[in-house]
Amino acid sequence: MRQAGRSLPEYRELRVGTAMLEACLDPALASEITLQPVRRHGVDAAIFFSDIVVPLRLAGVDVEIKPGVGPVMGAAVRTADDVARLTELTLTDEALAPVAEGVARTVAQLGSTPLIGFAGAPFTLAAYLVEGGPSRDHLAARTLMHADPQTWQALTRWTAEVTGAFLRAQVLAGASAAQLFDSWAGALSLADYTAHVAPASARALASVADLDVRTVHFGTGTGELLAAMRDVGADVVGVDYRIPLDDAARRVGGGTPLQGNIDPALLAAPWPVLEAHVRDVVARGKAAPAHVVNLGHGVPPSTDPAVLTRVVELVHSL
Ligand code: CP3
Repeated sequence: MRQAGRSLPEYRELRVGTAMLEACLDPALASEITLQPVRRHGVDAAIFFSDIVVPLRLAGVDVEIKPGVGPVMGAAVRTADDVARLTELTLTDEALAPVAEGVARTVAQLGSTPLIGFAGAPFTLAAYLVEGGPSRDHLAARTLMHADPQTWQALTRWTAEVTGAFLRAQVLAGASAAQLFDSWAGALSLADYTAHVAPASARALASVADLDVRTVHFGTGTGELLAAMRDVGADVVGVDYRIPLDDAARRVGGGTPLQGNIDPALLAAPWPVLEAHVRDVVARGKAAPAHVVNLGHGVPPSTDPAVLTRVVELVHSL
């Protein structure tokens, strides 16, 4: 998840003087940051240090990540004309070269530890573009999909294309798993998700369908959408902290491996409370045919790194 590194002093030290997206596009720096939590915590996989808006920046969109805020656009994409101008931008392999180089360097240093590549889902990216930045209820994006479905479709086709290219570049450079983050899909009704979002997510995942890679599909607040998110075509469904994994397994039908879902809030609770929660997550995960243990959303930056190491040790012991 995002912010994984922010709890690490060695991450904060490396980032001094370098803006977030510039750090993502520096292959040596991105690779070193990716390796830090693997070295410190002994996790079973690394997640590539990048961001879901990197392909937007590489395609020429005016976007930056403001500390404490999130991705902010120079201008919101609201009208049919705005979308027409946006969709003229293309994301070339040349532009993606720093991403491919960052992944290749990382994979070379990871040895047998696999690297997870990732991308934002077309809806979450479109929501940032239409709102111009972070939003609580994604009202402008949800209005657009109904007010002008054709423009919405053109927009999400484009976000699917660029995010798919970003994901594919990471897999071609050596990532062994590919995760699609639809962080804000939980703002949608099942009907809107199915009609206006799922086709674009399926296209994004299809960009790696011919490659030897497993895919994970994650969103937050997606209890009602889990089966629809599986149907989009991912191998594994990621579950946030709001739904117990045995319940999630029933909702997705039992045949699908799950990823999740330690509640980030409990990382700051007394150890016995956190330990009981981690044991409960692992026990409930047995309801799925396979379980990738992780957090149900991002690591709070204030987390004590020693607690994360202890959680990893506990999970390994189980
Ligand atoms: O944690 C990691 O280093 C893994 C790499 C990663 C990042 N972003 C780095 C990052 C991943 C997988 C992401 C995905 C991401 N980015 C998502 C999807 C997952 C999720 O959390 O829902 C989303 C929605 C974003 C957009 C984004 N980027 C937000 C909302 C923020 C937080 C802004 C803030 O300061 O509160 C970011 C910034 C970001 N992306 C950071 C990191 C390490 C923090 C940058 C910093 O200040 O050091």
